[in-house]
Amino acid sequence: MKNLIAPHGSSTLNPLFIEDSIQRESLISSSNDMKKLLLNSAAAANVVMLGAGYFTPLSGFMDKKNAISVANDMLTTDGLFWPIPIINLTKDSSNIKIGDEVALLDPNMDGNPVMATQQVSAIEKFSDDEIKDMAEKIFGTIDTEHPGVANFLSLGNTLVSGDIKVLNFSYFPNEFPGTFATAPEIREMLIKAGWSKAVAFQTRNPMHRAHEELCKMALERLEADGVLIHMTLGKLKKGDIPGDIRNSAIAKMVEIYFPENTVIISGFGFDMLYAGPREALLHAVFRQNCGCSHLIVGRDHAGVGDYYGPFEAQEAFELDVVKNSLKLQIFSADHTAFSKKLNKVVMMRDAKDHSKDDFVLLSGTKVREMLSNGQELPPEFARKEVAEILMKYYQSI
Ligand code: ADX
Repeated sequence: MKNLIAPHGSSTLNPLFIEDSIQRESLISSSNDMKKLLLNSAAAANVVMLGAGYFTPLSGFMDKKNAISVANDMLTTDGLFWPIPIINLTKDSSNIKIGDEVALLDPNMDGNPVMATQQVSAIEKFSDDEIKDMAEKIFGTIDTEHPGVANFLSLGNTLVSGDIKVLNFSYFPNEFPGTFATAPEIREMLIKAGWSKAVAFQTRNPMHRAHEELCKMALERLEADGVLIHMTLGKLKKGDIPGDIRNSAIAKMVEIYFPENTVIISGFGFDMLYAGPREALLHAVFRQNCGCSHLIVGRDHAGVGDYYGPFEAQEAFELDVVKNSLKLQIFSADHTAFSKKLNKVVMMRDAKDHSKDDFVLLSGTKVREMLSNGQELPPEFARKEVAEILMKYYQSI
């Protein structure tokens, strides 16, 4: 059997979750006596990703030098390729000092239970301009209409850095049982399935015909063993479909429309940043950590509004800093839609004689409008079983 692709920057995964239950229980009880730091949701999502091995080889939250170096050059001070600062920003650190081991509290669970401990190695301030500069580098804009930018600028100016030990995965295992999985668990699934060439499909949406066909095209053209449909389970912007609805729509589509043993459905606990190219690179890093050899990157990957060019995320993979570090490769997809002329879903670049009117194209806004009004989606656009699940949801809100 062939080996899976190596993790990023390391020969082994580095999940920061304390696996040993006795050690974990003892850390939970000693955390009662530690100083507390209530995390924001973005930092809590970082904790989940670090705990689950997705952010291998990092060992905790970056300090200011690293955060700036990553924002500017996509390299840590040690020269590791990393596309987005993994940081713990806070508004108030007055009760903690360097050298403390602090209990990190979960903002997304009732009663804010402890989710990790952090060995505080530095507490550093950013000026407003420095925060804006980082936002500009990560998101390519500082427009506060951009949901990721608005959130980033609201997190605070104090950076608490240091290694962490993770005690739980927040709400993800309970809210998404059978879907949420860690990177070592996904590697196990791939090994069990006997796959060595696995293509990851990132999604935060229910999958329509175009998405389904993108996965099938990648499978076929790469001669891959299977597709990992890997969905964002964390916080999304207003108007996006909630995780549980998306999950059932995807499961239904796979059950009916994919050959057996060609798909694994799973999800990860990270809040969507909508950072376009930079987020696509992060998506690639953590899919490599999951053992996937490829990631599908299509039109406006991880984008929002008109902030990024439709294929800017693909172009980011051409940078030397990326090519020199990442082992995973991307499957670059052109805009994909149903062709009325050919009676099937195609990539537009493969249908050069077509005009726009030859495709069935519906914007996200139009889809939402139709479902809210109880109007059926065309079968060329969405599978009927998927459309039924979405219709039920839209009629219930
Ligand atoms: S994302 O924010 O998680 O990337 P989404 O779920 O919409 O959003 O997209 C998942 C993946 O499918 C991304 O790689 C995206 O570029 C790709 N994609 C979505 N729709 C299309 C389309 N019509 N044509 C080509 N690629 C697409």
